[in-house]
Amino acid sequence: MLTAKGSSEEETHLKMPRISIFGLGYVGTVYAAGFASKKIEVIGFDIDEKKLKLLASGISPIYEPGLSELVKDCVHRDLLKTFSTAEDAVLNSDVTFITVGTPSNSDGSIDLKYITETSRVIGEALKKKDRWHLVTVKSTVIPGTTEKVVKKIVEAASGKIAYKHFGLGVNPEFLREGSAVEDFMTPDRIVIGVSDEKSKVELERIYSGFSCPKLVTNIRTAELIKYVNNAFLAAKVSFINMIANLCQKIPNCDVTAVAEGIGLDKRIGKHFLRAGAGWGGSCWLKDLNALTNFARKNGLTLPLIDATLQVNDMQPFVMVELARQLIGKLSNRRVVVLGLAFKPNTDDMREAISIKIVNMLLNEGAEVTVYDPAAISNAKEIFRDTVNYASSANDCIHNADCALIVTEWDEFKSLKPEDFVRHMRIPAVVDGRRIFSPQAFSSKLRFAAIGLGANEYFNPALAVNAMIVSDSEKILLVRRTIEPFNGLWSLPGGFVEHDETVEEALTREVEEETGLKIRPKQIFDVFSHPLRSPVKHVVTMCYLADVLGGSLKSSNESLEARFFSASEIPARLAFDHHEIVEKYMKSQREYWKTGQGLVYG
Ligand code: UGA
Repeated sequence: MLTAKGSSEEETHLKMPRISIFGLGYVGTVYAAGFASKKIEVIGFDIDEKKLKLLASGISPIYEPGLSELVKDCVHRDLLKTFSTAEDAVLNSDVTFITVGTPSNSDGSIDLKYITETSRVIGEALKKKDRWHLVTVKSTVIPGTTEKVVKKIVEAASGKIAYKHFGLGVNPEFLREGSAVEDFMTPDRIVIGVSDEKSKVELERIYSGFSCPKLVTNIRTAELIKYVNNAFLAAKVSFINMIANLCQKIPNCDVTAVAEGIGLDKRIGKHFLRAGAGWGGSCWLKDLNALTNFARKNGLTLPLIDATLQVNDMQPFVMVELARQLIGKLSNRRVVVLGLAFKPNTDDMREAISIKIVNMLLNEGAEVTVYDPAAISNAKEIFRDTVNYASSANDCIHNADCALIVTEWDEFKSLKPEDFVRHMRIPAVVDGRRIFSPQAFSSKLRFAAIGLGANEYFNPALAVNAMIVSDSEKILLVRRTIEPFNGLWSLPGGFVEHDETVEEALTREVEEETGLKIRPKQIFDVFSHPLRSPVKHVVTMCYLADVLGGSLKSSNESLEARFFSASEIPARLAFDHHEIVEKYMKSQREYWKTGQGLVYG
């Protein structure tokens, strides 16, 4: 027995038009399953027979969280079907949604080849139909396309007249990849673009089960709304990325706080203000290019959209520059990229910013290793054998000189500074998605992040200390007479400048402090001292080195430099180095006794 609610649902169901969906990509499949889940009969159609077969057997042809279950359920309940011909799909439905792709031509303009072909087959099917039918464009199309292209082709192929024998509508989608089902179920609004009452009533009926605002406009306005929506979102992200680049120049400034500060203003809103390595994905670049191209053809430039694109083009350079600031020249360095997909929870690498970053690193001569939890097989198609592929985040950072976070996967968020310190040859991290705590990371390793000003957390001047063990097994120390060292001996050292590697810095500092020229042979150890404040975070590096020449004469009057043999090393050394020297000497003694235990390299 039906309840009162049940009978009204039943009535709605009976009144609902049947829908056919042309194009089973991620938009088409989500809408097909989504409408079907609302008890509307849906027919899916695609020229790709593989997709049709999959859908017919209850399997979603694309991956989206929650979609497989929805498709399976709707096919099982006979609400979602497929037909193998376009004609059957049209003849067995009342409304057709066009959801085919609208790629770009090489000049950025919209390529309408799928739209025109689909319009033609729909028109041919309509020739055989004696009832009114509604054709609705859901694909993203430049204003005027539905009325100037779709309408004309359908009219020509069917021999019928628009608004008389068939209706016309535009109904843009605002689905995000990765949360498309959720976006379908709980939209912010529904935009209905129509120019006749019958089409309006039909589309409103289809969406009667949705409680969000429904905006009815004319066809061209609805077409434009979709572009403007994407353009505004992209502009918001580029805007905060531009500010992030400014924050990097201001000591103690952090773009995340700036974004929070402005996001709390209701007129601005907090969404889409996450600064980062740049935006990607199949839609924004294509849509922004199509829009500027359309404007140009209408004698207009869109400077804010040009700037939005320009800022996004800059972000990969910013990432590479931050890596350079941390470890110096990138040539022959092992640089790793964590995250390749254009955003988390997808394997989609279309227009992903990772592609530009990897290519820039390769151009710099770096040896690049990449990892992504989902996108590795897509990445292999793109990068082929130019990079190494890792099977996990830890595998990726192993022995690396610098790690770049490019996509904010949850898997990376759980990485601790210790993981980088343990695995990497030089623990250096560029956080391109602001997933790590600057305090926690910069106290343990070299750390830079998009939008993080040069402050106590970022170490533009990294301290280095060298233990120069000469060929005669003597250790070079310097004595500082100035406060607070009070005549204690210590390892020579200083700061790494932005444009040099740690090795270069050590060589330079040793020469400046002792007058000796050295050639580092092997790194003995690299670590941070936990007692050091983040402000003067010290990475101590010990080298086995060839002493090439020069004389023991410091350029600095307050320093005295001397070689010590093992038995003469002073018991108290400045800068906590005693421990290092002890460790080194212990391993030496082990080696001399057993021939094993040397820890170089
Ligand atoms: C986007 C729009 O959000 C959808 O409304 C639209 O329907 C879709 O394009 C489309 O035209 O089909 P999507 O491409 O799935 O959806 O991705 P978004 O979640 O919008 O993210 C786009 C890019 O911006 C990603 O690379 C993301 O990492 C980046 N982003 C986003 C940021 O860098 N910061 C942010 O604050 C937000």
